[in-house]
Order: sequence, then C-alpha cells, then structure tokens
Amino acid sequence: MPATLPAPSPEEAEHSERLRAQIADTIRHAGGWISFAQYMQLALYAPALGYYTGGRHQLGADGDFITAPESTPLFGECIATQLAEVLPQTEGVLIEAGAGSGALAASVLLALERLGCLPAHYDILEVSPSLMQRQQEHLRAHAPHLLARVRWLQAPPERFSGVLLANEVLDAMPVHRLRCEHGEVREDGVALDANGQFCWQAQPLSAVLHEAAADLPLPTDAPVRTELALAARDWVREWSRRLDSGLLLLIDYGYPRNEYYLPARSDGTLACYYRHRMHADPFWLPGLSDITASVDFTAVAEAAFDSALDILGFTSQAAFLFNCGLAEHLARHSAAGERAHFAALRGAQRISDLREMGETFKVFAAGRGIAPQLCGFARHDRTHAL
Ligand SMILES: C[S@@+](CC[C@H](N)C(=O)[O-])C[C@H]1O[C@@H](n2cnc3c(N)ncnc32)[C@H](O)[C@@H]1O
Repeated sequence: MPATLPAPSPEEAEHSERLRAQIADTIRHAGGWISFAQYMQLALYAPALGYYTGGRHQLGADGDFITAPESTPLFGECIATQLAEVLPQTEGVLIEAGAGSGALAASVLLALERLGCLPAHYDILEVSPSLMQRQQEHLRAHAPHLLARVRWLQAPPERFSGVLLANEVLDAMPVHRLRCEHGEVREDGVALDANGQFCWQAQPLSAVLHEAAADLPLPTDAPVRTELALAARDWVREWSRRLDSGLLLLIDYGYPRNEYYLPARSDGTLACYYRHRMHADPFWLPGLSDITASVDFTAVAEAAFDSALDILGFTSQAAFLFNCGLAEHLARHSAAGERAHFAALRGAQRISDLREMGETFKVFAAGRGIAPQLCGFARHDRTHAL
C-alpha cells in the first residue's frame, strides 16, 4: 500500500478483494496476460464491483475527487451560455454523457431556464447504475421542477441534432499502455507474479496498436511509458458519426499530441485517486481508486475530423469560461449577498485558476451544420496547437 494513503475499511478491503479475484481469474483464462485497457475496464466498470459500478461515493467531499461542476454552479452556467448559442440552430437535443453526481445537469438546466432556452429533454447516458440513482436524487433536490425533462438513455440515439456534452468522461475510458525502450515499442499489460499479485508484463504490439502507435511522436532515446486511448478515439468517432447537426463539447484534462508525448513525461499520464490523494499504482486495491489518463486532444480532433466534423475550437478551461461570461455570472451570484459572493468567488477561482484546473483542463468543440464562431472560443482559441 502506498505509505501516504488512508487505510480502507474492512468492507472496502473485502469488496476490493472480490474484484481482484475476478480480474485474476480473467487473466488466468486469457492465458496469463491481459492488456492494461482490459484491466482498467474491469477495475472501473466490472458489474457491481468496479470503481464506478460498485456503489461507492466517488465524487464530492466524501468521495475521492471533486470535479468542476461539483465545485460551483458557475461551471454549468458558463456551459449553458455556449449551449444557448448552439441549441437554437439545431433540433435542440441535449445529451450529457457520464453525468457523475448530476451536478452539471442541474446547473445547466437551471441556467438554460433563466436564459429562456430550456430544451424539451435533457438526456443522460451513464454507464453506472449507482450514479444514475445519485443523479436522480441530486436533480430532485436541486431542480425538482425540471426533473421531468431528464431522461436516462439505455443507448446513444442512432442520429441526433443538438449537443453532446461530456465533462471528465474521456479520461475515465480505458487506455492501452506502451513501453518504449531500446528503440522498440511494446505493450505493457497485466500478468500475475509468483504470489498471484498483478504485475506489468510487456508483449509485442498487436496490429491495431502498431498502426495507431505509428503516428505518435514517441521518444526512442530514453525509456518511456505512456498511454494510447483507443476507446476514447472510437467513442468520439461514434458520436461524430451520429451527429446530424450541432456540436460535441468535450472537457477534460489533457494536451495536444506534441505535448502529450514529450520526453519529459517519461512515466506517462496515468493517475489514480483515492480519498483526495493522487497515487501512481493502478494495481493497489482495485475498485477503490479511480484510474485515469490525460487526453490526447489531437487524437480526439482526428477522430472527429475523420467523421467529417469541423473542428470549432480548442482552448483552456479558463479561457472558455471567461469567454462564456464567467465574470458576469459571478457578479449575479455576488448580488445575492456577502456569503453568496465569497462562495461564488471561491468556486470561480477553483475552476479558472491558471496554475490548476483553468489550464490543465481543456475544452474541445467539433460540429457540423452550425455557425462556426462559438462564443466559448472567441478569444484564445488554440485549435492551431492540435
Ligand atoms: C470522472 S466522472 C465525471 C462525472 C461528471 N461528468 C462530472 O464532471 O462531475 C466520469 C463519469 O463518466 C462515466 N462514464 C465513463 N465511461 C462512460 C461511457 N462510455 N459512456 C457514458 N458515461 C461514461 C462514469 O460512470 C462517470 O459518471
């Protein structure tokens, strides 16, 4: 156990052990080795046992991490400003993928109501049954009069005209792990050591990974471990294909490709979160830590572009929020009194601070059939960096 992490409760340890045993069985049945992407898929999403599917509280002060919409409604209010510009140019379908606690849905819906731009429905596509329940509870508590508009989809619509919104969803998708050393690139997967514990083991690249890795500026002069996100790429391709007109609006931490694969990032971007501590061991008590990787936004742009979408913007979260009127939204909260002013100020600081979330998080937009100038990217657009 990493020395600085709080000890899990006996129930948590027992839950994790059941998941560990299931993953170990999967490895044995697969002949002794699975890709890290398969390990990550099971650790996060194995039915009833995975990190997101096991019923623990992941988000918020009593969980493992706090996202921007958890911090302040200002985040959703700025996004609503962008949605209000685009939705009227489409059939007005609004879908949120991976809605977490439901905080973003509530703040977006309330802001769209104030703007007189409420969509007929707010559709949520969520893979975690326990989070779906939490989303319903959050909406019932914070936007009860709008709950009837919210629908939980079983599958993505075949076609849609509107906006797909996803905050911190791409980073939660399984990644393959690459090991570059001695001028050779191999895939780092998961095997069992002599004690039955998970361990890294490298194999030659599969044909699919070989083709995908051929485009990457992987350093060859020093040993490097890094990630390749085939699942995120396929997901963006799939949503791009389904979009008749409108926008994909994707927010996450990550970099353009030339920064992602910098030699200095020699351990890649894999990060795990447990009770507000970050650690680097994805094999530690599976099911109790979130496992994430930063997003290669060039790969995201390529996936959208391959499906004939126009790339409409890429910028830092801070620039996007200020372009969408963060200062004006803040002033509205401040007018409600001193307490509201300071709470809003703290939230605005957290989501726009250039030393943290404001710069590490990026906003990406791609679409078709709408006016290409989006208010969220009016200043400081960095599409050229992709
Ligand atoms: C880090 S949480 C972010 C939650 C929320 N968007 C927020 O900002 O607070 C990741 C979310 O993505 C969901 N998720 C992961 N893969 C998904 C997929 N393929 N489709 C839809 N949701 C997914 C998870 O269940 C979880 O709700």
